[in-house]
Amino acid sequence: MSRRPIIAGNWKMHNNREESLKLVSGIKDAIQNIDLDALPEVVVAPVFTSLHVVSEKICNCGCAKIKLAAQNCYYEAKGAFTGEVSIDMIKDFDAKYIIIGHSERRQIFGESDEMINKKAIAIIDAGLTPIICCGETLEQRELGVTDSHIASQIVKALDGIKPSDVANVVIAYEPIWAIGTGKTCDSAEANRVIKGIRATLTQIAGKENADKVRILYGGSVKPETIKEQMAQSDIDGALVGGASLKVDSFVEIIKGAI
Ligand code: PGA
Repeated sequence: MSRRPIIAGNWKMHNNREESLKLVSGIKDAIQNIDLDALPEVVVAPVFTSLHVVSEKICNCGCAKIKLAAQNCYYEAKGAFTGEVSIDMIKDFDAKYIIIGHSERRQIFGESDEMINKKAIAIIDAGLTPIICCGETLEQRELGVTDSHIASQIVKALDGIKPSDVANVVIAYEPIWAIGTGKTCDSAEANRVIKGIRATLTQIAGKENADKVRILYGGSVKPETIKEQMAQSDIDGALVGGASLKVDSFVEIIKGAI
């Protein structure tokens, strides 16, 4: 089963309009001579306020090489939800993906598995693709409950979603202790957990659908780590935070996934 790899840059709460434009332009220029077929799917996830400028930059260059993602959404279509952004509003910018369930959203903003499930359903209904994050804390890892915790996050996030739709979601395994710490999870261990995620997906949606799901690794991915990560049997790409904020390091990671 060949799955097209994804290298996604999660810019988090970085980059104003001008900085976002500079970063996406730099990425675009750096990959322009690489054939689309040779590239992994390259995705950038700017803050909401930069979606417009980044979207225009990608479209102006007819750039099928860079896809747009939002970092979050709300599942209701409209209404009295101060501070939230709907999926239709994100669709205005031709985004293809929406990241949901990032550990920062879960931990800092108190998002529950139930909310993440509602978001996943609404994103799929709108014709977009959720990038669903999961991952364990250091404490959970030390207690030996990593696999059961992640299986539970996946089962809850995908509750009520048709097996054929499960095939199209993207999952990012991001051990929380590896995010922004410089401590990358050992590649073989990340692969082992990701195989476990695929086993859970097989139970939920059947083997044929589970085999189609792209599962990324995230957590201190760097140019020096990407080759070994991509060499693993079940790692289909990376969700990159810190190293996606500089053209050079992000492009090196893209090239490392070719
Ligand atoms: P990091 O972040 O690459 O800076 O560890 C990854 C993420 O949170 O998606």
